[in-house]
Amino acid sequence: MSCNYQTLWTLTPDQKDVKGFIVTMTIAINALKTEKGPLYRQIADALAEQINAGLLLPGSKLPTHRRLADQLHVTVGTITRAYGEVERRGLVEARVGAGTYVRDHRKANWVFSNDLDNSQCELGFNIPPSFDRSQMMQQAMSALTEDPRQINHLLLYHSAAGIAEHRETMVGWLSTLGLKLSSDRLLFTSGAQNATQLVLSAFSRAGDNLLVENLTYPGLISLARQQQLTLKPVAMDDQGLLPEALDNACRQYQPRFLYSMPTLQNPTTAVMGLQRRQEILDVCRQHNVYLIEDDVNGLLPEHRPEAMVNLDQEHVIYVGALSKFLAPGLRVGYVHAPEALYKQLMSTIQNQCWMVSPLLTGLACQLIEQGSADQTLHYIRQDIRQRRQLVCSLLADTGIQTAEDCFHAWLPVPEAWSLSDFLAALKTEGIAVKSAELFVPPGYAIPPAVRLSFSAPDNLDTLTSGLKTIKSLLATQPVAEFSL
Ligand SMILES: Cc1ncc(COP(=O)(O)O)c(C=O)c1O
Repeated sequence: MSCNYQTLWTLTPDQKDVKGFIVTMTIAINALKTEKGPLYRQIADALAEQINAGLLLPGSKLPTHRRLADQLHVTVGTITRAYGEVERRGLVEARVGAGTYVRDHRKANWVFSNDLDNSQCELGFNIPPSFDRSQMMQQAMSALTEDPRQINHLLLYHSAAGIAEHRETMVGWLSTLGLKLSSDRLLFTSGAQNATQLVLSAFSRAGDNLLVENLTYPGLISLARQQQLTLKPVAMDDQGLLPEALDNACRQYQPRFLYSMPTLQNPTTAVMGLQRRQEILDVCRQHNVYLIEDDVNGLLPEHRPEAMVNLDQEHVIYVGALSKFLAPGLRVGYVHAPEALYKQLMSTIQNQCWMVSPLLTGLACQLIEQGSADQTLHYIRQDIRQRRQLVCSLLADTGIQTAEDCFHAWLPVPEAWSLSDFLAALKTEGIAVKSAELFVPPGYAIPPAVRLSFSAPDNLDTLTSGLKTIKSLLATQPVAEFSL
């Protein structure tokens, strides 16, 4: 191929992207002037330059490998490598069966609104059931403030890992729930989301592949988008991740991290059995992959398999929080790190915020010591069991997936309905749920299903009436509308 020239490549105006918009794209291959370095990298540099200069707009579809190869008189393999390189740099994303698109970093925000509408049956938010927590908070706050020495101590700077006694209290309490953690490997965070964000910001770079379950937590999808990581989904069955699929994904994508929710998976509710946990860890060890075990829902079940971190502390980064039972507003979470990663995580916390507020970790420890954490967990479990019974009886024979002590459920939408029509019908009936679309890594197929969070309605009557409406909608044959 002759270099030292500038090629203008234009997609024909009739070429449409998936959204049906006309795409007109121009790629100037300026970088081929230099003749330095391998050809694929020159093309990748030219694409990167165009994207960074805003000439290729976010969301634009790149030409097919074959088409660009023909245009530039290079091999398809060269274009494949060039696209792979720009993907690695986090500038584009390959969508299975749909092509390669310029990443849209404006979409990074996954904005949560807590405006619960009481006229609606709110089944969208994975929040613990509400009850009056004011008394336990009053008790904890006055215990913290009545001793001047103690409160003044909490108002000082402390280690980025958190106060040692607080870590010991937390680890001690978690051990009563079966978690074998060490306080010198635990770092406090502002919730589980922050813990995962810390890990990813400390150890991954734009363009890295991150393995996830093929349906995953939307907060993780948003985080990956913001950090320009490419999510690679791994197939699951009713126990979660499949070891063989994980092995294949490790070979293909050479990731450093796998993010998984082995207990009460969000959204499918899958719980991984002990043998499967061991098999998954075997694959991780074989490929030198760290497992980020998000166990934020894992404190809910009274009976559960061993946490993955109990099985291998050096390959599991354990992430959790008190958000799903004690109070999400407390913002107390933690990460338990392998020895090799601990110091860097600690310095990442220090770089970000110096430390999680010792007042909050002190409050959490006081709630543990005065017995409120145990009482709340007990109460929440009783409440979830009642709610789950309603779900299982009213939505029996719908294929709904639930799990013991889990407050969300995964409901397949029957063939008669399209997912969008079903969501629209629910909305008309005043019922809020979460569409499967939110749980799918960008570019992958969306299964027809919705997540119901049955902890959110503030009483059982509202929940019952919402579930009855869903049941009757599922039994309805919607009128099919079509147009030419
Ligand atoms: C799987 C999962 N991880 C993390 C979080 C966020 O937890 P936190 O509120 O402790 O940041 C959620 C919240 O819904 C979640 O479902």
